[in-house]
Amino acid sequence: MADITLRAVDPARDGDIEFLWQLLVERSAHAEMNISHQRMPSMREHIAYVDRHPYRAWYIVERRFERIGMVCLTHQNEIGVHIIPEHRGGGWGREAVKRITKLHTPLPAVPGTLPGSFVANVNPANVASRALFESLGGIVIQHTYLVPQPGEDHGEGERETKT
Ligand SMILES: CC(C)(COP(=O)(O)OP(=O)(O)OC[C@H]1O[C@@H](n2cnc3c(N)ncnc32)[C@H](O)[C@@H]1OP(=O)(O)O)[C@@H](O)C(=O)NCCC(=O)NCCS
Repeated sequence: MADITLRAVDPARDGDIEFLWQLLVERSAHAEMNISHQRMPSMREHIAYVDRHPYRAWYIVERRFERIGMVCLTHQNEIGVHIIPEHRGGGWGREAVKRITKLHTPLPAVPGTLPGSFVANVNPANVASRALFESLGGIVIQHTYLVPQPGEDHGEGERETKT
């Protein structure tokens, strides 16, 4: 079975910007792939964002020299991962997360601000992502609620109902 490699995102390299854009398009079309409902940026905003090196580490996941996804690590110890649909279910998402957690160590805890472990913020409706992090031994440590102000409705989240 061909392995994957992690290669640092390089905005100057032909195709990286466009590939990351393609992933963004998919995430913005599926509410469950996001935890915050942000608008899709313009291509110009996207380029500026990638150029800014916003994450502590950001890799393109490659398999047989083909881009099949990305994995990133934020300055808040959060892991993000995305594999393109045609390569899902082969263990590459889990492998990419394993690799990034081997390549880096969590930044030390800052009480009240930063956990001293890697974390993944996952929409509760994102079955695939929950399964991936659970298959790595991840445990749920909190439920985060968006709390509306009077008259405001956050609408699309998942609510638990009492029966
Ligand atoms: C989440 C995602 C990265 C998973 O990648 P993947 O390469 O398909 O996952 P893997 O093949 O490595 O699977 C890892 C585990 O999750 C399980 N899993 C993956 N997709 C699943 C699904 N749709 N339903 C149930 N379980 C699923 C696998 O069975 C495996 O567990 P197992 O070994 O116990 O069987 C991929 O679905 C994706 O890119 N989704 C869109 C972006 C996204 O939502 N990112 C996460 C934001 S936090």
